[in-house]
Amino acid sequence: MRIEILTTIPQVIEAYVSESILGRAREKGIIEVEAVNLRDYARDRHRTTDDTPFGGGPGMVMKCEPVFEAVEALKSRRMGMRPRVLLMTPQGRRFDQKMAEELAAENYLVVICGRYEGVDERIRRQLVTDEISIGDYVLTGGELAAMVITDAIARLLPGALGDETSPESESFSSGLLEYPQYTRPADFRGHEAPEVLLSGNHAEIETWRREQALMRTYQRRPDLLDTAPLSEQDRRFLARLQEPD
Ligand code: 6GU
Repeated sequence: MRIEILTTIPQVIEAYVSESILGRAREKGIIEVEAVNLRDYARDRHRTTDDTPFGGGPGMVMKCEPVFEAVEALKSRRMGMRPRVLLMTPQGRRFDQKMAEELAAENYLVVICGRYEGVDERIRRQLVTDEISIGDYVLTGGELAAMVITDAIARLLPGALGDETSPESESFSSGLLEYPQYTRPADFRGHEAPEVLLSGNHAEIETWRREQALMRTYQRRPDLLDTAPLSEQDRRFLARLQEPD
């Protein structure tokens, strides 16, 4: 998997990507992430990547030339490969776990970090295959959003996490929120870990965890219950939760 991120602040991307889980995945050769400086593709003396909008108005607009030249240079570097070209923008489709899984199946992504004031419409129309937002709020630039999706994608690649950790067993893949976790000490300042977790009874532990996940999802994100795969037993448990006592 290769992800190339077009930005005017590559040092910020590089700093994040070289640390954390992403840094490990990179060292293991599971993912290649490269921050590409858009300014390197600006032709004018001041290496400008944005300009004032035609028609007037506030803010600056990301220019066509540097973005087109950069994407074309990247594509010709890997002849024959047709990357998905993602534009990070609050106007895009909202990123979620399903989209992370879909993108993790690709082998080459180019990510353009848009600036929030705007991007020349011809970039969207001629170059971009997917416009992606990470949520309903506005960031000053697409860099943090690019890091968010890169992280969510990278951790799905086989071997990116530790050996035992399986992304399939967790929140959003199971369609439910996670059950509560505890570790030593069993009694911390008088607050005790649930006894069932110390019992060694794996069937009981599994039932407890499932019920906790269902309860938490019901309390915090009931919308997820509409689409989560639920067993008959899950449904009976949820029905009991909803009974007035
Ligand atoms: Cl992808 N970019 C910006 N600038 N703001 C955002 C966003 C992206 N997603 C949510 N807010």
